[in-house]
Parts: sequence; structure tokens; C-alpha cells
Amino acid sequence: MANIKYHLGEEIPLEMHKVRTVQRLDLVPIERRLEAITEAGNNTFLLFNKDIYLDMLTDSGVNAMSDRQVASMMIADDSYAGSSTFTRLDDKLGEIFGKDHFLPVHQGRACEHLIAKYFVTEGSVVPMNYHFTTTKAHIMTCGGEVLELYKDEALNTISDDPFKGNMNIDALTALIEKEGTEKIAFVRMEAGTNLIGGQPVSLENYTAVSKICRANNLTFVIDASLLADNLHFIKTREEACRDMSIREITKAISELGDIVYFSARKLGHVRGGGIVTSNTEVFNGLLEMLPLYEGFSTYGGMSVREMEAMTVGLDETMDEEMINQGPIFIKYMVNELVKLGVPVITPPGGLGCHLDAMAFLSHMPQEQYRAGALGVAMYLASGVRGMERGTISEERNPDGSDHLAAVELLRLALPRRVFTLSQVKYTIDRIAWLYENRELIGGLEFYEEPKVLRFFFGKLKPTSNWQTKLVEKFRTDFGDSL
Ligand code: F0G
Repeated sequence: MANIKYHLGEEIPLEMHKVRTVQRLDLVPIERRLEAITEAGNNTFLLFNKDIYLDMLTDSGVNAMSDRQVASMMIADDSYAGSSTFTRLDDKLGEIFGKDHFLPVHQGRACEHLIAKYFVTEGSVVPMNYHFTTTKAHIMTCGGEVLELYKDEALNTISDDPFKGNMNIDALTALIEKEGTEKIAFVRMEAGTNLIGGQPVSLENYTAVSKICRANNLTFVIDASLLADNLHFIKTREEACRDMSIREITKAISELGDIVYFSARKLGHVRGGGIVTSNTEVFNGLLEMLPLYEGFSTYGGMSVREMEAMTVGLDETMDEEMINQGPIFIKYMVNELVKLGVPVITPPGGLGCHLDAMAFLSHMPQEQYRAGALGVAMYLASGVRGMERGTISEERNPDGSDHLAAVELLRLALPRRVFTLSQVKYTIDRIAWLYENRELIGGLEFYEEPKVLRFFFGKLKPTSNWQTKLVEKFRTDFGDSL
């Protein structure tokens, strides 16, 4: 954050930008919110924007763009093959990541699709610091298995470990010693992690993983979708990197990996994605598949307008005042909730503020979906939409029983430069009210359950009339307030 000291002592996340285009929002009354969430099968994915006040479902594809990004879209060079827009993006990626080749794709999971198809075969394993849903699905579809080699601390909800996303180096070494390298398709690091509360990875840890990969001739793949937040954390939390620029840290990370891929729905504040590598053999292998699944090699499924805005967005990502916008707002929100005694993942990470639903709703059986129930209650109390990241997001065990998640999180994502401090304060206020009234929150059960990735389209109902009671309590406490 810009070096600004406050006379009154309060630490306030301060913006180094101003807002020049706005979108009107509505906050519908709680009675309508109850109807809306019922129509949505108590699944926040199935709500419609007209019923949502603050959309904290995700930061994917919904970060605010800068004036320079929007302006750049006007000069996009629209051609199927060989557009100058592609050349500008290709050059920018070369400058930032220092890799020789770039493959454009329509979004992050498309990178995972191509990489899994190229490297993973039946019986392969892919060690990683933590899985992401789409990454795991693509690896499994190709017959591979994901091995999560995280530190014990990674799943501790209350912690002051600055880099909970680090890979467990001892576990990686032990795996190679025990199993050899034959079955390892590649080693993947998510920089930083998504499903354990946006926790970052240190440059020291990347370096150690890279060293092991090089010594054992293993391909090292870096998922840079959440890199922007991670760069901020390396700069502010890792003593040895304090004097490095954001560009230097980015280059250093990239040099450690053989392949870097990203979702530009997150990195660069646009939509789309890409893979960069200096390995010409891998590049040619992936390139062969590109026209079949994505599009020609100079657009890969993206519109040229998005690509033009990506070039500018990636350049702006090298600015500390731009990339701190997620982390400083998240830190504010987490710290305020900690002060109020609300269980929340600490230390503050990237992506969003993660409520610890396991502790928040400790009175409820985990089988009744604590994180899902908290997401519903949060929407009812505030019109704020979060995302369940707990048991509902897991697949069932082969015997049909629920696979109870290690952590039950309600993710309240903070898309960058989108919400104001007063909106964050409103959200904190409603969370505080919910926490005081948590005993009123009850469980959920499925009445329509898809077999795969059930969290997207599954429908649930409350296990009792707890929602009506929560609405009544809201009216008693807030009168005619929205
Ligand atoms: N890798 C990570 C670490 C991600 O967080 C995501 C997406 C992807 C890959 C896939 O990228 O969506 O462009 O296909 N995360 C989104 C989220 C969906 O809401 O956290 P994508």
C-alpha cells in the first residue's frame, strides 16, 4: 500500500485510482431474498444478478478494467490469423515472463485440458501444493491422479504462517525416493492457492521445488492464475524479496518453471487465458491440439478485444498499487472480523475473505452442509452472494456416502477495484449480525443432485423452517431496513 500514515491511527485500504464508470445495484427486501434463494434451490450459483446486491461469488472475469484497458479495445486488429493484437500480446508476455512461446486459449481450464492431454496417461500422478477443481478434473479425465503435498499448517484455519500455500518439500523428496519419477507426469504449483483460502507461496519454496524438478528431470508447471496477489505477498512478506521489483519477482518465478499457464479471467483483469514456455518440443505438441479445441494460434478462442485489454492489464499487473487492491481490502475485512470474534481464515490471503463455516456453525452436523447453509444465510441477511467451498463442492465416496471436506469455507471473493469500503463495511456488519444469531441457522439437504460437480447445478432444501425464523429475527432487529 502507498506509504500513507493516518493521524487517527486506523489502517484503511486506500485506492490509487478513481471510479469513472459505475453500474447501478439493487438490494431487494429480505422477503424477496427468501423467495429468490428458494427458487435457486438454496444454491448461490443459481441466483440471478437482479436479486443480488454485492456479488462476491468469484473474482473470475469480474474485476474492474482500467481506462487504458477499455481504450485499448478500440484499436484491436480483427483478423482470424496473424493479427497485430496477437503480436502485441505475445511481445508483452515475452517481456514479463521471459519465455519464448505463447499459446492463447479461451480460459484457464483450457490450459489444463491441453497440458493434461499432453502429459497425463493412465496411472500418472501429478504432485501439487493444492488442487483446483478444474485442474483435478482434467488430470483425472486423462487417467491420472492428483497428489496434494501441502504443509500441515495449510489446513489450520487460525494461523500466522505467511506462506500456507507452500509445497511440502520433504513430501516431494520422499515421493520421488519411494516411487521414482516414472509415473510423475509433471509437478504443479498453484501460485497462490485457491481452495485453502487464497494462501500464497514463497519464492523460496518455488526455488526449492524447481531445484528438485531439475535434478530429477521433471517438468515443473506453474498455475499463475492467482499470481497477482501472490506477487504482493512475496513483496510484503518475504524478507529476501523486499528490494525486488514486481517485474523481477515475476521473472524469477517464471524462470523456475518450464511451463506457466494462467486464467486471464483473474490475471490481467480480462477474460481468456494462455500458456507460455521456452520448451519448443512441448510448445509444438500443444500447438497441434490448439486449432482442434481452442482456435487458430493467434487467437485461441479469445476475442481480439480481450487480447488487447490483456496486454494492457498484464502490464498494469506489474504495478504494486494495482496488485495490492485485492489483498489490502481482504486484509481489512479479515482483521475486522477477527476483532469481532468471527471465525475466518487467517492470515488474510488473496482472492477473498473466507469464513470458517466449520466453526461458525459448530452446532450443526457437518452432513447438513455448514458452508452451504452459511452461504444461504449470508445471502438472506445481506443480499451478498458468496461461494460454498466445503462438502457440497466434494464428490461423493464410491459407496454413496458424503465425502466430508477437510475445511468448510464460505468464500466472499473481492473482485479487484469493484467494491468500496462502505460496501465491505456493510458486509462485515451483516456477518456480525449473523454470527450473533448463528444458532438460528439450520441445515440443508439435496433434492436434486448431479453426479459430477454437484455444486454448480445441485438443488437443496432447508432441513427445518429455520430460514423463516431468520427472516423474522431480521425484521425484529432491523425494522423496515432493506
Ligand atoms: N486455476 C486456478 C488457481 C483458478 O482459480 C481457476 C479458476 C482456474 C485455474 C481455471 O480458470 O475459470 O479461467 O477456466 N478459478 C475460478 C474461481 C473459477 O472462481 O476461483 P478458468
